[in-house]
Amino acid sequence: MPKLKRTHTCGELRKKNVGQEIILSGWVHKWRDHGGVIFIDLRDREGITQIVFGRQESSGARAKELETLARKLRAEYVISVAGKVAPRPEGTANLQLPTGEIEVLPEEVEILNKAKTPPFEVSDQVDVSEEVRLKYRYIDLRRQKMQRNLFLRDRVCKATRNFFDEHRFIEVETPFLTKSTPEGARDYLVPSRLNPGSFFALPQSPQLFKQLLMIGGMEKYFQIVKCFRDEDLRKDRQPEFTQIDYEMSFTDEKDIQFITEELMVRVFKEVLKIDIPRPFPRLTYEESFRRYGTDKPDVRFAMELKEISDIAEKSEFRIFKEALKKNGIVCALNAKGLAETSRKELDELKEMAGDCGAKGLAWMKMTDKTFQSPITKFFKQEELDAIAERTEAKKGDLLLFVADKAKIVYDALSKLRTVLGERLNLIPDKSLDLDYLFSERRKISVEPSFFSFVWIVDPPLFEYNEEEKRWSPVHHPFTSPKEEAFPFLEKLTELPKDMEKVSKVLSRAYDLVLNGHEIGGGSIRIHQRDLQEKIFHLLKIPSQEVKEKFGFLLESLGYGAPPHGGFAFGLDRLVMILTGSSSIRDVIAFPVTQKAFSPLTNAPSAVSERQLKELHLKLEK
Ligand code: AMO
Ligand code: AMP
Repeated sequence: MPKLKRTHTCGELRKKNVGQEIILSGWVHKWRDHGGVIFIDLRDREGITQIVFGRQESSGARAKELETLARKLRAEYVISVAGKVAPRPEGTANLQLPTGEIEVLPEEVEILNKAKTPPFEVSDQVDVSEEVRLKYRYIDLRRQKMQRNLFLRDRVCKATRNFFDEHRFIEVETPFLTKSTPEGARDYLVPSRLNPGSFFALPQSPQLFKQLLMIGGMEKYFQIVKCFRDEDLRKDRQPEFTQIDYEMSFTDEKDIQFITEELMVRVFKEVLKIDIPRPFPRLTYEESFRRYGTDKPDVRFAMELKEISDIAEKSEFRIFKEALKKNGIVCALNAKGLAETSRKELDELKEMAGDCGAKGLAWMKMTDKTFQSPITKFFKQEELDAIAERTEAKKGDLLLFVADKAKIVYDALSKLRTVLGERLNLIPDKSLDLDYLFSERRKISVEPSFFSFVWIVDPPLFEYNEEEKRWSPVHHPFTSPKEEAFPFLEKLTELPKDMEKVSKVLSRAYDLVLNGHEIGGGSIRIHQRDLQEKIFHLLKIPSQEVKEKFGFLLESLGYGAPPHGGFAFGLDRLVMILTGSSSIRDVIAFPVTQKAFSPLTNAPSAVSERQLKELHLKLEK
């Protein structure tokens, strides 16, 4: 049993506490010896307090004893200190630190546990690999940045629960050991011991269950829930991640978007103490691609794409004309003021475009009145004038062009847009200073414009998957088409070859984008059994598979399914943006690496022969 019982946290003592006898517990953060006076920064969750050995009241043998003890302490030792709060001597206050005007003069120290030299310092400037941070995650979590991230995450969940509670949504848990809930990724499978040869799938989302809850008369449901997707990982993806998931009956797009915006207003107010303006702007899917080349535009800055196919058509530039002949397009991006870009930098940009499939990157630099470029000779003056007018090119600007199939042009130029936006400092400072949230200086340093929301609405129902040579849903197969498409779909027995026509069938889906990240998406669902069957049929899912995978859903739709719809946020992505983190791994307590491996637990790992046998499994070596 420890002797000393803590009375205060390391973040709480101030000038008004001077003279009090207190007890603090925590980790030895820093240790310094200044000529016989030993300083220790003691750290706990709430902050840091300076302990000074050598200025306390007790002297003689007792002082010597304390000094000997202090010399034994090492970084990350866990200790309790009993002592008296004193003002720091004239001129030594540290105003950066909330406790910086006082120090504690110890009378007693108890070592609760020793620590080996940690693999890295507990400080916000760690310079070890992420692999090492993840292996020793319990030490990494002691860093202030990580503590704040998880603290903020907790606040977001609290605000969300309160919000939904006030709006009479009920939280319902849905199964993890279940059947495939397709959201476009691979499933994680769990073999069943009691049903040899059968597998559960971990849900990619609670989609089907929340629809069943609506059919079950729950009307308003929400859940903060884990989802599992076996897909290639990136900075904003983890194989298990968390959604804020909700669904409503007797509703439409307007209601759901309203409640979603209100939730954001509430979360930003409660968590960051800022007012974000609503309603959020809306872009159609088509407009978003046309103007930004992506359905996740960062609308914090302009720099829009301009299509110049009509001008290129008339020119003599063979590369552009060839692309147009093959049903392609030509688009331009105006990088304002970057006419001085060097050859080397242009080559780097070309390589980035190449990574997106572009076969090249043409450029023109606007000098005095005209363009300077190896390709100007292929354009007549009036064509150059038309390009300048369309792109609003002024002296000193750099124009970049890609000609290809629309998808490649959009991918390449939207990538360059992001890179150049950063290079031109058009994006507000990425690292948020959240200090104001954690100190008594309640100065709000975050502008609402730091966060740019945009709704992306009216996406097509289907998109053509070139690799697999088939149509797939843009959102998921339970999303309702727009009503005006019903007669067209009704007549179809299969999706026609005419891509143009199919792409014009729009859906009642909507995504929410924040600062260029897709933070959530949802839709109005199909609640009519025959329409749902038709969609499965058009997607060419064999009827046996439909029966096996979605038989229960189809059946439920036949027993009085109300019209319903909903939405799901990616909680990790939202918190990543709120905390100004660059990876979602920094807002998840125990994430895995990009290879879906945990350096901490070494999961996934081999299992014993006995376990395999119980599960009726044999491994192929
Ligand atoms: P969707 O598949 O768009 O929709 O997912 C919703 C949001 O979840 C986040 N997200 C992820 N976050 C981290 N790692 C991942 N691997 C990952 N995958 C998705 C994204 C995304 O916008 N059932 C539907 C919602 C609905 O229709 O109501 C769904 O899951 O931020
Ligand atoms: P080339 O004649 O191949 O040397 O190309 C002339 C210029 O056009 C170079 O700057 C190429 O990068 C560029 N270019 C080639 N293909 C394309 C394309 N599909 N789109 C845009 N620029 C291209």
